[in-house]
Formats: sequence, structure tokens, C-alpha cells
Amino acid sequence: MEQLTEAFRALGDQTRLRILRLVGETRLNVSEVVSLVGVAQSSVSHHLTKLKSLNLIREDRQGGFTYYALAVEKKDLLWPLIQLAKETEDLHGDLARLTELQNRREDVQSLNEKLLEPGQSWALWSSALSTLLPPLQVVDFGCGTGKLTVEIARWAKSVTAVDRSASSLLKARAEAKRLQLSNVTFLEADLENLPLETGSQDLVVISQSLHHVASPEAVLSEAWRILKANGRVVVLELAPHDEQWVRTRLKHVHLGFDPHSLMDTVKSAGFTDAQLMPAPRDSASPFKAFLLSALKAKTTRNNSSKGSALRA
Ligand SMILES: C[S@@+](CC[C@H](N)C(=O)[O-])C[C@H]1O[C@@H](n2cnc3c(N)ncnc32)[C@H](O)[C@@H]1O
Repeated sequence: MEQLTEAFRALGDQTRLRILRLVGETRLNVSEVVSLVGVAQSSVSHHLTKLKSLNLIREDRQGGFTYYALAVEKKDLLWPLIQLAKETEDLHGDLARLTELQNRREDVQSLNEKLLEPGQSWALWSSALSTLLPPLQVVDFGCGTGKLTVEIARWAKSVTAVDRSASSLLKARAEAKRLQLSNVTFLEADLENLPLETGSQDLVVISQSLHHVASPEAVLSEAWRILKANGRVVVLELAPHDEQWVRTRLKHVHLGFDPHSLMDTVKSAGFTDAQLMPAPRDSASPFKAFLLSALKAKTTRNNSSKGSALRA
């Protein structure tokens, strides 16, 4: 009874009542309470201490901050006081300011989530691969403006980025320079006939370039030729689609590939151990990607292999 009377007396102070109502909505730190009720920090601290001594609120510590939260539950003797505080007329517009503060908190939260999205952390994880992988000499077939090239450069020993488009190579070079990458060489050439030494590379990456070329067979054959024994090719391609507009707008020659047919083409170029990784199924895009990886097991092609086998 005495506790209840003292608590009622303490809430005779309007600022204290306002603070209790705010803390009743969400936990707050001292600076937040100051910004909401607009009184000096010393006064706010005094009120918080008083409310705490009455067991109406409690302190929660998190990340170096002290927060104040409601210490009373519905079943407690003091709960009617909390109800009283909640039902008191909001003459100062405290609740509107509290909503703004909660929205700002959500913004910071989503900003924190963004920091973990592709971008910073993925780039670092990508660099971490360089400590796990052997020193790889990679050729990026059809590098375009170099978005993928610079990612490969984070974990490869060196990257030769090939494209027939001088304007795309200009942008790719600028990007590599901006990122101060010293392990990328750019090459203006045709993927069907590359000025690269036979058996000189560890990995060929062909990302969304095959659907641009007249002869995917010839390009895969070139990939096989320039790889060392035990070298690998990785192809990222689109599954068959009906988006005809990409022929004129984006200069696609092929409207995607059937993954299994492309596997056969890869094998015909001389590769073995072909593995297929389909894209997740829930994408709403008409463009579904898949990934194919295969091995150049030895330096002579099978008799059944087609393509520019004579050059190997
Ligand atoms: C869609 S972009 C791929 C960009 C990059 N690989 C990626 O995944 O972000 C295709 C690129 O292949 C290049 N390309 C198409 N046919 C080519 C060929 N025969 N020789 C060299 N580059 C070619 C185009 O110029 C274009 O820059």
C-alpha cells in the first residue's frame, strides 16, 4: 500500500508522468528521453532515478548504452499507474515525436543490414578466397565493362579480360584503375580466335557472353585450347527464353541455351567432368541463369570432340 501511495505521489510531477508513458511504449536511453520531453539532461536523469527507485522502470545495458524499460507487468500491483500514465492526455505531442524516433531507428537498422548486403562484405569474402585457392591465371571471356573482372581479380593471381568492344574495354580499364588493381590485363580480341598461348591458363570464365557469339562451339574450343591440363571452364548462361527484343536491343544471337545441350557442346569441345548448377526457381525474371563447370583433364582431345580440335 505504502509503495502504491509513494508511486502516486511521485507521478504528481507531469514530466515524470510523461517519461513513464514514453518508456511504457518502448525502451529509451537518456538522450532519447531528453529529446522527447525537451527538458535538461540533469532533470531527466533525476526523474529516471526516481522512477527506478519506485520499481516502475529498470535499466537495461546494451552495446555500451543504458536503456530504460518498463519494470511493471499487467499482473503487478503498480500496473494501474502505468495505465494512468498511458491514458493521460498527450498535451506536448510526445507520442508523435516517439513515432519519429522509432522510424529513425528503423532507418539505422536497415542501413546496418545494407552493410551486410552484397557490396562491402561480399568483396571481402571474395578476397578471402585468394588465401584458399592456388594462384590462378584466369581469362574472363567477354568481360564487357569489367564488373565481374574486378571481382575475379580479388582472388585470382592474374586476370586477362577479353572483349571485342573497345568502348566496353575502356570502361573496364577505368574501373580496374579506380580500384587500383594491378593484376588485370585487357585484351581486345575475338573469343573465337584468341592471341593467347595454348595450355597457358588455369581457369576460363564465360559469363553471359556465349549468347552473343556466332559459334559457341568455336569459343568453347578456344577455352579448351588455352587451358592447362586440369584447368577448368566455368560458364554462366541464360536458360531458353522468348524475349525476342534482346536480339536488337542487346545484340543477343541466341535466346538462351538448353543447359543439357550446352553440356554436350562443352563435352564436344573436349571437356570432361561437366557439372550443372541451375538457378534458384523462385525468380520472377524471364531470364533464368545456370552455371556449368567442366575440366580439361588432358591436353589431347577425344576423337569424338568437334570444334577447332586441330589447333590444340
Ligand atoms: C553481356 S556482356 C558480359 C559481361 C560480363 N562477362 C558479365 O558477366 O558481366 C557480353 C560481352 O561479350 C562480348 N562479346 C560478344 N561476342 C564476342 C566475341 N566474339 N569476342 C569478344 N567479345 C565478345 C561483348 O562485347 C560484351 O561485352
